[in-house]
Amino acid sequence: MRRALANARVLLTGASSGIGRELALALARRGARLLFSARRGELLASLAEECRQLGTQAEFLAGDVTDGGFRAALIDRAGISFSGLDVLVNNAGVSAHGLFAGSDEATLRQIMEVNFFAPVELTRIALPLLRSGRKPAIVNIGSILGHRGVPFNGEYVASKFALRGWTEALRAELAGDGIDVLLISPGTTETEFFDHLIASRGKLPWGKSGAISAAAVAEQTVRALERRRHEIFPNWRGHALVLANRLFPRLVDRAITRWSRSK
Ligand SMILES: NC(=O)c1ccc[n+]([C@@H]2O[C@H](COP(=O)([O-])OP(=O)(O)OC[C@H]3O[C@@H](n4cnc5c(N)ncnc54)[C@H](OP(=O)(O)O)[C@@H]3O)[C@@H](O)[C@H]2O)c1
Repeated sequence: MRRALANARVLLTGASSGIGRELALALARRGARLLFSARRGELLASLAEECRQLGTQAEFLAGDVTDGGFRAALIDRAGISFSGLDVLVNNAGVSAHGLFAGSDEATLRQIMEVNFFAPVELTRIALPLLRSGRKPAIVNIGSILGHRGVPFNGEYVASKFALRGWTEALRAELAGDGIDVLLISPGTTETEFFDHLIASRGKLPWGKSGAISAAAVAEQTVRALERRRHEIFPNWRGHALVLANRLFPRLVDRAITRWSRSK
């Protein structure tokens, strides 16, 4: 049975730009009630105003999702504002570019904090609210790079593989509670993501060629939520890479190695 999003109570991270911002707007157009977060409060304030103009309830809390106290405050706020929660969207994410040998532990730890530990721990404390939600769901924004590793992106790849593995484990664990767990695996998407790298040691070798819009990723995500899908790949180029890698892993390995040596 489809999930209706009108009046659904949604908590969304990383809403100040890119996919998160477009997701907030797409959900607001469906009449979902929203609580969203990110660090840049002024961007969240104007997004909340846009959502309210679309006729829905929109609140925000600004803060760093890697801070356990902030995560607890977000869940408290969802409890107070909504008296429950139907959908949690773990979207906030960061990356870094450069060779592993030239990178450092701080970069790896920061990426794992934002992309893996924060969504996992936010989900843990959201579960009591979700268990009493209406057709509850958790949506994790992963990546094509959670299915296939590529050079110059080792820390990010590791964080998204970890997120995917945990998502699959959680889906089975929560099925008995009626909580759906959806993984979104976008390919390159036109957002500010590449301007927010926490480290950039060298030029991004693949650029933004073949990027799709954040609005397209958001619309496909919302539809997947309505149709109760388990996983989607919004970008067909990225999906083609994942399929090729499943069928011909050695060939893809060789192609990626050759390509990275040419950079
Ligand atoms: N763009 C792509 O090509 C692509 C491809 C595949 C997957 N993705 C994934 O899509 C998701 C959204 O990224 P995007 O492309 O929309 O990039 P974006 O425009 O840079 O958005 C990232 C969001 O995460 C928030 N964020 C980052 N660090 C945070 C922190 N420590 N605490 C709280 N919020 C934080 C940012 O807000 P503040 O800076 O205001 O805190 C921003 O709202 C990420 O999980 C990313 O890995 C992106």
